[in-house]
Amino acid sequence: MVRFAVLGCGRIGRMHARNLARHPRAELAYVYDIVAEAAAETADATGARQAGDVDEILAAGDVDAVLIASSTDTHLDLLVRAVDAGKAVLCEKPIDLDLAKVDTSWQRIKHRKPTVMVGFNRRFDASFQALRDRIHAGEIGKLEQVVITSRDPGPPPLAYIEVSGGLFRDMTIHDFDMARYLLGDMHAVNAVGGNLVDPTIGQAGDIDSAMVSLIAKSGALCQISNSRRCAYGYDQRIEVFGEKGMLQAGNQRLTTVSFWGAAATEARDPVLNFFIERYTPAYHAEIDHFVDCVEKGTAPLVGYQDGREALRLADAALDSMRTGQTIRLD
Ligand SMILES: NC(=O)c1ccc[n+]([C@@H]2O[C@H](COP(=O)([O-])OP(=O)(O)OC[C@H]3O[C@@H](n4cnc5c(N)ncnc54)[C@H](O)[C@@H]3O)[C@@H](O)[C@H]2O)c1
Repeated sequence: MVRFAVLGCGRIGRMHARNLARHPRAELAYVYDIVAEAAAETADATGARQAGDVDEILAAGDVDAVLIASSTDTHLDLLVRAVDAGKAVLCEKPIDLDLAKVDTSWQRIKHRKPTVMVGFNRRFDASFQALRDRIHAGEIGKLEQVVITSRDPGPPPLAYIEVSGGLFRDMTIHDFDMARYLLGDMHAVNAVGGNLVDPTIGQAGDIDSAMVSLIAKSGALCQISNSRRCAYGYDQRIEVFGEKGMLQAGNQRLTTVSFWGAAATEARDPVLNFFIERYTPAYHAEIDHFVDCVEKGTAPLVGYQDGREALRLADAALDSMRTGQTIRLD
């Protein structure tokens, strides 16, 4: 059994805590949140102990791994402390908002050869894994274009936006990682963004809509489309195009039933509402993979440097949007 503590019991922390509590090869020993009621509720729901502070968890001999699901601006400090305490770490995205700090922190901890995984859950989605496998198997020949559509059903609370690091570092970061997963490293970034959905997001200094173009080192092109609002649910689609054809991964629905009548044909259930519903199997697979890595001492499929590279792309996109220039990365 890999013994876990979860730090941060908000939207995603509670879900991870529940998944860990039910995992056959994991034991959820502790939960902690700076808001004691959030931790207490999660402790009640999972049977874990509620820690009084982070130090109690880091000092605990019966904790092998720490899952960091607290607010973004706390991740890196907790990650470094957990690694220094000898724990394996699964850290939610992004690892931090400051690339220089990400690099100096790595210099500080790398001698420990830590097991650190970043929560880019979409790499564990069966459809996106199949896209990658089939690209690599040569089914569409030379890969030329990737089109990623990623739209949330609605914006998060303003308090979340204010500490999120902005749309590119908070939301597009998943798509930057997916672009790297499918295409490898990038050569150039061009981005535009706007405040089209919610004026209060603009007043907080952020954007809520974006289009990003990437050129991969291979020469292939990628287009990412983001919105913080989508009337028909959580829009998560990827299309990959090559010399021999195209592969598409579409949205998912609760059932496959369709209605045909006088007013509409092919009417189907709405697409699954948001990340917890859409990526349920991926979150389970992510934990499975991390538990494997801790048990076997193997490197995670998505590690610290992947978190760093996605942040580098997010920073380049912000730079491009502000300057109107294409940002070259090499
Ligand atoms: N991989 C994904 O699909 C995914 C989805 C949603 C959120 N996230 C990431 O997870 C993180 C949390 O997001 P959320 O939506 O759950 O936010 P949230 O605001 O609902 O929850 C964050 C929780 O962290 C707690 N917290 C803040 N500082 C803390 C600290 N120092 N120690 C312990 N707890 C602390 C807060 O009290 C809150 O309960 C964010 O970094 C976000 O980017 C990832």
